[in-house]
Amino acid sequence: MKAQIFAFLWACILCGSFADFNSENSAKPCELAHKGENIEFPKDFSFGVATSAYQIEGAWNEDGKAPSMWDTYTHEHPERISDHSTGDDTVESYHRFDQDLAVLKELKVNFYRFSISWSRVLPNADTSVKNRKGIDYYNMVIDKLLQNNIKPMVTMFHYDMPESFNEFGGFTNSSVIDYFEAYASFLYETFGDRIKWWITFNDPYVFCGMGYAEGTFPPLVHSPGVGDYICMDNLLRSHARAYRSYKEKYYSYQRGKVGININPAFFYRKDGQTSDELVDRALQYQLGWLAGPIYNTGNYPSVIIQDIAENSKIEGLSESRLPVINSTWSDIIKGSGDFLAVNYYTSHYVEIATPPEGEVPSKEYDSKIKVSMDDKWRRAKSEWLYCVPQGLEDVLKWIRDKYNNVEVLITENGWSDDGQLDDPQRIDYLRAHLQAVLNAINDGCNVTHYTHWSAMDNFEWNKGYTEKFGLYSVNMTSENKERFPKKSAAFYTSVIDSRRILR
Ligand code: NOJ
Repeated sequence: MKAQIFAFLWACILCGSFADFNSENSAKPCELAHKGENIEFPKDFSFGVATSAYQIEGAWNEDGKAPSMWDTYTHEHPERISDHSTGDDTVESYHRFDQDLAVLKELKVNFYRFSISWSRVLPNADTSVKNRKGIDYYNMVIDKLLQNNIKPMVTMFHYDMPESFNEFGGFTNSSVIDYFEAYASFLYETFGDRIKWWITFNDPYVFCGMGYAEGTFPPLVHSPGVGDYICMDNLLRSHARAYRSYKEKYYSYQRGKVGININPAFFYRKDGQTSDELVDRALQYQLGWLAGPIYNTGNYPSVIIQDIAENSKIEGLSESRLPVINSTWSDIIKGSGDFLAVNYYTSHYVEIATPPEGEVPSKEYDSKIKVSMDDKWRRAKSEWLYCVPQGLEDVLKWIRDKYNNVEVLITENGWSDDGQLDDPQRIDYLRAHLQAVLNAINDGCNVTHYTHWSAMDNFEWNKGYTEKFGLYSVNMTSENKERFPKKSAAFYTSVIDSRRILR
């Protein structure tokens, strides 16, 4: 009873104080019409929710865990986080997995996507120390999920590089390829008897772009057009080696699947013309950069190779800023994915920038495009996030056509606000994007999973706790950090139960 009264008070506080949020915005459409024959998701289609270690675990220095680059960064640069917060404790999932499990059970999800903190299980980044307590924690999580018929889906790397490795170069040091392969093999050996879905990397473009080009995420390197390209290259090779290692040593008895997660947007021409060339160029720079080598040719897309080679020459360099993939590596990379995991949030308008914009060098400059948003689109609390569900349908069709209809898992999709329990905008967003997935399936796309970001409100990187993506709210000021369902949680469960998108 006490808990219910508390939940009620909490709901009132949240509803009242945020009632005006985005009211003008909510008048803008966030919907998508049904297309195609089936109104139900296929029988074997799975619904889930996602989180990541740094964003939910807390316990940043407990039980033998070493710091990750996000621990060091938030401690040293509180001024860079909107509310000067850290993930030191966050929603305390390291100590409160039972509360998370209750959320997952109440949602009735088929699977749970979470990430493993590299520095919690291998505090030295290499395999010299295997931290028993960290391993026990993930064993507990996996076992309890399976006991409750919830499939575990694991991300190996969700931005949180061990600080010890970051100190000697992180993803600009090519030894990361060996380190990552050893880490991945350790994960297969330790948890692979129960994990059937492995995602090597989360959002490489964000990690490399913000970390090594813009310098707005750790390790705060400002080296556009060079640092981010090296990061992407080492990450691609790390992924491919981790994939090969699974196939060679573990697949025969573990029978799981390994893929990578990429965060594409779709692009629409600003001039309204129908030629696909510009849209294609934008998608190659966004999605094809890594998906092309893995799911298609074993090499970077030719438009990217050409642009960067030409600009590098003009800049007086003897070699292209884009690393070369030789034939040995090409064989390792080509085909190194059983599925493509897609984090889709939003889309953009695109136009050719004449002259090219951005710093010289930079990806913006090399790509010769500029992107923008439409203020007719409904915007979330996050300034980059607009509701464009058609973009998800279109990106899925583009993948179908370019990559031989590879299996696609939507591994993230979500909406941010102030955290109110009454969240009709999240329901609109969810409904419209589920519709996009169903339309794409009806049009022959091989999509098998949908994952909502996130199970509960958590630490949103540089935005701290000021932008909330959860289906559940967490009372951050109470000792027990209770989780409370938002209205969107019940909506999502109704879809999972009925396998239909209810109006
Ligand atoms: C993608 C990232 O994977 C996740 O960590 C983040 O919280 C969401 N986008 C929302 O920004």
